[in-house]
Amino acid sequence: MSDSASLNFEGKEIKLPIITGSENEKAIDISKLRSETGLVTLDKGFKNTGSTTSNITYLDGEKGILRHRGYSIEELASKSTFTEVCYLLIYGNLPTKSELDSFEHRIRIHTLVHEDFKIILEGYPSKAHPMGILSSLITSLTAFYPESLDPNRSKDLVDLSIARILGKFPTFAAWSYKKRNGHPIIYPDNSLDYCTNFLKMMFELPSESYKPNPVITDALNKLLILHADHEQNCSTSTVRVVGSAQSSIYPSISAGINALWGPLHGGANQAVIEMLDQIINDGNDIDKYIKKAKDKNDPFRLMGFGHRVYKNFDPRAKIIKKAADNVLEKLGVNDPVLDLAKKLEKIALEDQYFVDKKLYPNVDFYSGIIYRALGFPPEMFTVMFAFGRLPGWIAQWKEMRENKEPLGRPRQIYTGEQTREYKDCLLYTSPS
Ligand code: CMC
Repeated sequence: MSDSASLNFEGKEIKLPIITGSENEKAIDISKLRSETGLVTLDKGFKNTGSTTSNITYLDGEKGILRHRGYSIEELASKSTFTEVCYLLIYGNLPTKSELDSFEHRIRIHTLVHEDFKIILEGYPSKAHPMGILSSLITSLTAFYPESLDPNRSKDLVDLSIARILGKFPTFAAWSYKKRNGHPIIYPDNSLDYCTNFLKMMFELPSESYKPNPVITDALNKLLILHADHEQNCSTSTVRVVGSAQSSIYPSISAGINALWGPLHGGANQAVIEMLDQIINDGNDIDKYIKKAKDKNDPFRLMGFGHRVYKNFDPRAKIIKKAADNVLEKLGVNDPVLDLAKKLEKIALEDQYFVDKKLYPNVDFYSGIIYRALGFPPEMFTVMFAFGRLPGWIAQWKEMRENKEPLGRPRQIYTGEQTREYKDCLLYTSPS
């Protein structure tokens, strides 16, 4: 097979090397294109542009395959815990028992946050969206751990920052929820496992101690695993680009949280449940909303449908749909939204518009339904996505740093005014 591609430009033939991935994916390496031809490439939204090579996640959107470090998402979601998957993504292999114990211990001793964070939290209005609070609390970690600001200082320091962020993220997430409710914060309980500790900080009330429920803890582990990494998506690319400027891990991840917040990305899970509620309140008229989604003049989109890279079923959506049935049944929750979601999915999958455009339910379509059954309000859904994506962001940031990747800095094609002559009449003269 050819190891280069030819480009003919202005009578000259240029050979561009072909890079082959471990799953036989092929890319044209255009890094010398500009120096040899003066050309840049243009690909708005980076729809067909590889920004890096990576050993972390393999995804085949046509076949609906997702694997982390070689392990299928189906196996990880059914056999692992979230902390095992964190270790796998960040350090490359599934941990041995002693490696896992030591990793969990390192995280556990960092679950507590400085008391001054409570003062920062107090300053927010009670209706502040928890994603905004979370991103600023994560950046604020730099103020408490200024030594973390130099990502080149030492490997041990990077590992310490990783343990700190994994330990404190659930505390911040739960506290942002308490803030919104106006309830007192709950401190971490390090006798509990990672997920149960988070659930306790979320749901314990001074009047009622939290009773761990294995159905809820298992469901949370599964949901977090399903969101743990997704190669070069919008928020992960953001983390890598911010980190490429040698920004440290906390601001890089904070930037990822902000990118995730948008409704086309992680914010879709909140938007899905709001859309489903709206359809119910509007008389369950599914056809009306399918028509709206297909109407080019209507900005409405079927939230939770479509994906930049999956042109087949999102494998995570398949697992989540099954889990939603299971969790709601085990918890005895009867949410009419689940029936509506299934009907909507069936109608959309048979509709020519969705078939032609290869629009399938994505990870966000059913996740909000489970989160609601577990007791989470919609404004926490995207926080939960961020919680799950945390190890992926960390792993990608770490890989980018270890590979000494260059500053991320795309080119553009300028389409504005050419040089214009400056005229005095354009000067502002104040009335005398
Ligand atoms: N409802 C109706 N039409 C859609 C939808 C949808 N959900 N998604 C895509 N389309 C149409 C779109 O109008 C376009 O039509 P045309 O070619 O006639 O202009 C075509 O399908 C291709 O869409 P695109 O927006 O150009 O494709 P993209 O790869 O840029 O978009 C997407 C991917 C996820 C932004 C989009 O499918 C979408 O907006 N979906 C709804 C939001 C959503 O569920 N986001 C969560 C994604 S999964 C979580 C994550 O990893 O971020």
